[in-house]
Amino acid sequence: MKTIGILTSGGDAPGMNAAIRAIARTAFANGLRVKGIRNGFDGLIKGDIYEMNISSVADIVHKGGTILGSARSLEFKTKEGQDKAMEIIKNFDIDGIVVLGGDGSFQGANVLHERGIKTIGIPCTIDNDMGYTDWTIGFDTAVETCKEAISKLRDTSSSHGRGNVVEVMGRNCGDIALYAGVAGGAESILVPEVPVDMEQVISRVQRGKARGKLHHIVVVAEGIGNPQNIAKEIQDKTGVETKLTILGHVQRGGSPALRDAIMASEMGVKAVELLMEGKSSLAIGIKGGKIFSMYIPDAIKIKSEFNTELYTIASILAN
Ligand code: ADP
Ligand code: F6P
Repeated sequence: MKTIGILTSGGDAPGMNAAIRAIARTAFANGLRVKGIRNGFDGLIKGDIYEMNISSVADIVHKGGTILGSARSLEFKTKEGQDKAMEIIKNFDIDGIVVLGGDGSFQGANVLHERGIKTIGIPCTIDNDMGYTDWTIGFDTAVETCKEAISKLRDTSSSHGRGNVVEVMGRNCGDIALYAGVAGGAESILVPEVPVDMEQVISRVQRGKARGKLHHIVVVAEGIGNPQNIAKEIQDKTGVETKLTILGHVQRGGSPALRDAIMASEMGVKAVELLMEGKSSLAIGIKGGKIFSMYIPDAIKIKSEFNTELYTIASILAN
């Protein structure tokens, strides 16, 4: 292992930069060369690659986004795209690649492994939807952003005696909604993992209103249904004016929260160690606070488990 490449792929996640820094610094400390591949697999196919040095990763540990840029590349899913990528990897003398991204990006990493390039995956997605690891890099920061937004909405909702439906991201995973909802004291949390019970949502608002509560917050994971309709139904059936707030991409930005920055640093170091040991197609994860790695094809088969205990706690606390 003489030269490693780094690429960030799929939706960006706060902590990607901290991981890039950890990978590069560990590689330099071990006498390796590092090539930054811009815009994920798209940049790999195009040869959009540059030589990194110690200064390339200065002053980025605290920054959201990714200095390498990220993209979703349909071309890389085709044989032609993969052939082009292999040609580029050969031309740039890259021996191993660390891929930062979610499930899809890990599949891309495994494709390269099957074609003889050593690859390691670091789980980066705000969704926390990768079942083999307790946490993905970016999740904590996104939840903090949502929690802060909910508490601000609560301030103004209380002043006006209003309700708020807050839509958060998470694709098919309700983790952001669940953790932000509990931390933000939401009355109801609607997630894809649990059938939506609008009667319960409405009865909670009505009970709150009866005992003089000034506001209500309903956190809704994206994809649960039209959040505008949910807000309207609550308003029509309870008489409480209910606004809709869609947090959107604000959740993807910001300086990484503590756990994201620490995990990114630990996983970045581990990725280089594994490459230097000659390992390949390994997904790095964290279980019970310990960093570990497992074969990517096995890792991506493990479905993300919803925290039903926390969901029950949310219901108890909302009453
Ligand atoms: P994430 O990594 O966050 O799950 P995507 O599912 O959008 O994001 O995947 C990111 C990129 O990974 C895709 O645009 C594509 O370039 C690559 N990728 C995804 N699935 C595959 C696959 N089955 N084979 C090869 N590359 C893939
Ligand atoms: O996977 C991360 C994520 O932010 C999801 O929560 C969301 O559904 C999706 O990406 C949004 O993708 P885009 O940035 O392409 O709009």
